[in-house]
Amino acid sequence: EIENTLRPRTLNEYIGQDKVKEKLQIFIDAAKMRNESLDHVLLYGPPGLGKTTLSNIIANELGVNIRITSGPAIERPGDLAAILTNLGENDVLFIDEIHRLNRSVEEILYPAMEDYALDIIIGKGPSARSIRLDLSKFTLIGATTRAGLLTSPLRDRFGVICKLDLYRNEDLNKIVYRSAAILGTEIEDRAAEEIGKRARGTPRIANRLLKRVRDFAQVKGNGKISFDIAVNALDLLEVDDLGLDMVDRNILLTIIEKFDGGPVGLDTLAAATGEERNTIEDVYEPFLLQLGFIQRTPKGRIVTKLAYEHLSIKEKDAMR
Ligand code: ADE
Repeated sequence: EIENTLRPRTLNEYIGQDKVKEKLQIFIDAAKMRNESLDHVLLYGPPGLGKTTLSNIIANELGVNIRITSGPAIERPGDLAAILTNLGENDVLFIDEIHRLNRSVEEILYPAMEDYALDIIIGKGPSARSIRLDLSKFTLIGATTRAGLLTSPLRDRFGVICKLDLYRNEDLNKIVYRSAAILGTEIEDRAAEEIGKRARGTPRIANRLLKRVRDFAQVKGNGKISFDIAVNALDLLEVDDLGLDMVDRNILLTIIEKFDGGPVGLDTLAAATGEERNTIEDVYEPFLLQLGFIQRTPKGRIVTKLAYEHLSIKEKDAMR
């Protein structure tokens, strides 16, 4: 799959998130020098920033196997017990959307993380008893969009906690350049910059835009991604010069037109835009907050002057 060929396999190949990389490299090296499992790692931040990619890299750098699953996929305690008992020494278990584990499953995880042990209840009623089963040492890597969604007993059991931030444009530029080379597509510097600039801080979006621009260059041009081709393709995709897409603009325009610029609560905004509350909070809001286009207030979200300017809408005099 193309998606996978674009993913870096080592920390050295991984662009951006320098602080996270530096920390992880040290903890990985230390674990390897001691021949121990790496402490459990929590990765959190908006979707598309490379949490799964980093987990694969960590396993690769440790030289161990990785088992990949997600919170909602582990329905019953027995499902998790089966996974845990099949891990090899120092292996990585990656649980995406770890905040969506159900309680009974989460409780199995506590002794597994802390003591590498599984507590199994056998029998029912007064004769029921618990036996403890030893597990291999392993590293749990949990990923979530917001660390605040985890229960504190779970959060407390991670020895390494890494926050992933939206990428800087210069890093996205490098990622687009690297991906174009892997795809075998010629690209002008300014075109890579433009795609990076419009990727809303997110490598997954940068790579998706690159592929669509590459299609455009193939059909409308000679295959090479020039600056003009990139701009025309991105305009066709309705991604504006700051990277706002139709949903971003719809969110801003809804607050402006239906709620006089806000404040408006998240649930009301979700109903009025037809987007999921969680999608607004995890996907759209971080970018709009970073741009300074919306602000969170105790009464709800408000649109800022900067957003009005970007959308070329006059703020009504009555409004603030
Ligand atoms: N492709 C997607 N994310 C990447 C990253 N952070 N570095 C390099 N290539 C990537």
